[in-house]
Amino acid sequence: MPSAAQRIRERAERVDGLIDVHTHYVPRGWPNLTNESFVDAPWLRIESESDAMIMLGSREFRRVHADCWDAETRLRDMDTDGVDAQVVSPTPVFFNYGRDGEEATRIARIFNDLALDITSKAPDRLIPFCQVPLQDPDSACRELDRCLANGHRGVEIGNHVGDDDLDSAGVVTFLQHCAAQDVPVFVHPWDVDTSPRSARWMAQWLTAMPAETHLSILAMILGGVFDRVDQGLKICFAHGGGSFAFWLGRVENAWHRRHDVVGTSEHPPAHYLDRFSVDSVVFDQRALRLLVDTLGADRVMVGSDYPYPLGERPAGAVVRASEHLDAVTRHKIYRGNAERFLGRLPRNGEQR
Ligand code: CO
Repeated sequence: MPSAAQRIRERAERVDGLIDVHTHYVPRGWPNLTNESFVDAPWLRIESESDAMIMLGSREFRRVHADCWDAETRLRDMDTDGVDAQVVSPTPVFFNYGRDGEEATRIARIFNDLALDITSKAPDRLIPFCQVPLQDPDSACRELDRCLANGHRGVEIGNHVGDDDLDSAGVVTFLQHCAAQDVPVFVHPWDVDTSPRSARWMAQWLTAMPAETHLSILAMILGGVFDRVDQGLKICFAHGGGSFAFWLGRVENAWHRRHDVVGTSEHPPAHYLDRFSVDSVVFDQRALRLLVDTLGADRVMVGSDYPYPLGERPAGAVVRASEHLDAVTRHKIYRGNAERFLGRLPRNGEQR
């Protein structure tokens, strides 16, 4: 049983309302764009008003429900969970980075416009992040600008494009563009190792995804991206930044001991800890404490991975349960940091 003091605090914090920076959508009207050149393309098999299956070619990938596409369902869940606003990002399997740039641009446009159908029902609470054809940086910049003009507030990118990591020239060009436009970037792991060894026990989600995100942060640091891009770049990594915080010491040690191989950044890795943020969806108070201790209270934001099965419900549960965090830190994680990340949010009823 929670103590009376805890109940009072939880009520007060519910009024405060969270901003959840990590949620996904799938538009129900997603067209089947499978073609001969891309036989494993993702598409949506509609099964009922409230159920559908994400398909990869003829293979079932993930069953999804109305909470993926129905604004009313999402808003009801948000009210129940004390969430004021959600960043609504694409589901990574639909990124289509493997197609040619022109085709991927056409698909991104369809997907991004469908997203606004969902979020326009409550633009002060459902904050759309677009996707871009990251394999084609010029088209990616153009699609981002088009989306911003139409109401998107940021962009979600996959953590790699084939064998190119975030330090590849094309991705850096795109990140520079985001920095120049003051657009928040959310980085999500995707396209992870599919060997039989990681096909067991959901290991793709439990080991490959955290490792992918760790590698992406290393690409930003050791690949010299943080040395090159504008200081103002607002970038957040999913799932608490994956394995990064736990292994920072190992990376730091390698940078000093094997400087000939690892010392590619201007400064040691720990120098760059104030250049990025992570979400809080780590499910464990000790892990959350490590993130706050390592990155600082200004660098962690509530994320839930709603509405997917490995997401946190209610959003922010681990933050609420973390009694070691003081009220100021808690407020920053609940919404203060997200407000800074997203830029000023419109209030209820205010014109955008
Ligand atoms: Co996610």
